[in-house]
Amino acid sequence: MLISLYDGEALSRLVSDVGTGMNIPSEYNGREQSYLKHRILKEYLDQWGVKIGSTARQGPVKLWYVDCFAGPWKNRDQGLRDTSIAIGLQALEEAAATWRTHGHEIRLGAIFVEKDRSAYQQLQTYLAKRSSDIDIHPWHGKFGDHVQRIIDVIEADPAFVFVDPTGFKGVGMHFIAPLMRQRMRDVLVNVMFNDINRFKDDPRSFLRQQMWDFFGLTEGSMPSGLAENELMALYRRNLKRNCDVKYAADLAVPHPTHERTWFRLVIGGKHPKVLEVFRDAERKVIGQEAANVRTLAKQKAKEDRSGQLSLGAVVSPQRDRWYDVQNDLDCRNAICALKALLREHGRRKFGSLWPELLEDYHVTKNDIARLVIAAANDGELLIEPERRRRSLVRDDEWVSINGVIEREET
Ligand SMILES: C[S@@+](CC[C@H](N)C(=O)[O-])C[C@H]1O[C@@H](n2cnc3c(N)ncnc32)[C@H](O)[C@@H]1O
Repeated sequence: MLISLYDGEALSRLVSDVGTGMNIPSEYNGREQSYLKHRILKEYLDQWGVKIGSTARQGPVKLWYVDCFAGPWKNRDQGLRDTSIAIGLQALEEAAATWRTHGHEIRLGAIFVEKDRSAYQQLQTYLAKRSSDIDIHPWHGKFGDHVQRIIDVIEADPAFVFVDPTGFKGVGMHFIAPLMRQRMRDVLVNVMFNDINRFKDDPRSFLRQQMWDFFGLTEGSMPSGLAENELMALYRRNLKRNCDVKYAADLAVPHPTHERTWFRLVIGGKHPKVLEVFRDAERKVIGQEAANVRTLAKQKAKEDRSGQLSLGAVVSPQRDRWYDVQNDLDCRNAICALKALLREHGRRKFGSLWPELLEDYHVTKNDIARLVIAAANDGELLIEPERRRRSLVRDDEWVSINGVIEREET
């Protein structure tokens, strides 16, 4: 049997055949980075919807999905399945269904802003055909011009704000800030690392201004020559400072066929749970699923070059080291940082330790718990109250350096 890797259905069957459980829709062939972005969006939004939807137990609630750079863009599916538009609406509906079956009142709203006229028309046509009980507002124009309108419509309701531009123009942090003032607001920003990296040190004044706006600088000039991690740390720091965001973290979406970053997705929110959900999504999508996605993309690229099929390599996807290498390194860095915090500040509750580490390192809450338990078993750390054969650490349990009388956290 001759199977072309351009044939998405056959490709999906192949992927299922290798027992990964993964099913990459053919619409994403050649833009696998968007598939990974959409997988993170979906994983995060599903958890967000269910978590925020749980407030319906205290009274009626309305959840908003705000897609500030909506598209559709480079979609191949007529039903827009391969867009953030369909993914966002579906996540809202699923969250509402979960709580409605328990008898709670939950209403839904969505705002889509799109600048390009023909994309906007496609968006309108799609939304007009899609039956839904969501209060939907599609708006034509620039995100920055619609910020006040968004605020007026969503008022103080919980909202997930998605900022997914094609570059960095029109994405000033001062546009995001007013949307984050209320409680229960999460923002996911796609930092187009490819573009930023190309232009971050460009001396032309209009680009200096765009960088200044994008990174939310308020004084001085954009530092030059920043490496990838430094750039992202700057973005996260300013997101927290300018946008009422207490917690911020980012992850790298790799290029499908090369060992370099394509996107950086940054999450910001007001509760440490934001970090836990985000790092779990990173582990699942970038740590596990991306291996298959990238193996297939590399295979297809190889076939494109040679004009020959090589099914053997497809049926045995390699383990992708992209995430594993970073996670291994960051586990070591995180436990060192944790010990340094304990030495500096005395004993701390576990619940006040892990969020700080998840912001800076590509590790999950479970990773931190495992590392703390291992260090306690080795006699380096103490977890109180002490327990024999511990398999988890609760947020309200104390962690300290063993053998040292520590000050309590204030
Ligand atoms: C990367 S695409 C969005 C993809 C979409 N979020 C998804 O994941 O399916 C960015 C979109 O933003 C639109 N756009 C560009 N500048 C804009 C602006 N200032 N305001 C609103 N939309 C803009 C582009 O026309 C394009 O459709």
